Amino acid sequence: MAAAKFVDALNEQIAYEFAASQQYIANAVYYDGQTLPRLAAFFYAQAVEERNHALMMVRYLMDADATVVIPGVSVPETQFGDIVAPVALALEQERRVSGQIAGLMGVARAEGDYLSEQFMQWFLKEQVEEVATMSALLAVVERSSDSPMFIEDYLVREHSGGETADPTAPPAAGGAL
Ligand SMILES: [Fe+2]
Ligand SMILES: [Fe+2]
Repeated sequence: MAAAKFVDALNEQIAYEFAASQQYIANAVYYDGQTLPRLAAFFYAQAVEERNHALMMVRYLMDADATVVIPGVSVPETQFGDIVAPVALALEQERRVSGQIAGLMGVARAEGDYLSEQFMQWFLKEQVEEVATMSALLAVVERSSDSPMFIEDYLVREHSGGETADPTAPPAAGGAL
């Protein structure tokens, strides 16, 4: 059995992950509207990843026989002043989520819930990657905001072909997309 406090906190996190997914769709739609297809594709793919994070958490709660509450989510930001803003927002979001994931780890540990603590390990590692990816992209976007085609080329070089499947990833409810 997962600790009750951890179950409550993880249910909250499910809302944040779905909200992150919605935000990334909003980012993608903005770039699509600017005819920056690689930036759009990058964020459409990130949106799927965030959805999968939420569904991994759903699956964990179901496997632990805990109550799952599928949440409504906060409204994403859709108005951006320039092409840098969505990436800056994304980095801010990933940093916030890193803090939330560390917090969940802390709850599991304080409750002596070792299985939940172990479940959170993968997310901690994932956040290191996502913050690093978003920091690098922000640096590129800031440097090349006047020449968006450099940004598009960077994404072709660094982020084409999508993520390779990670065998250590927790299973998602419904199977990962
Ligand atoms: Fe996430
Ligand atoms: Fe993320």
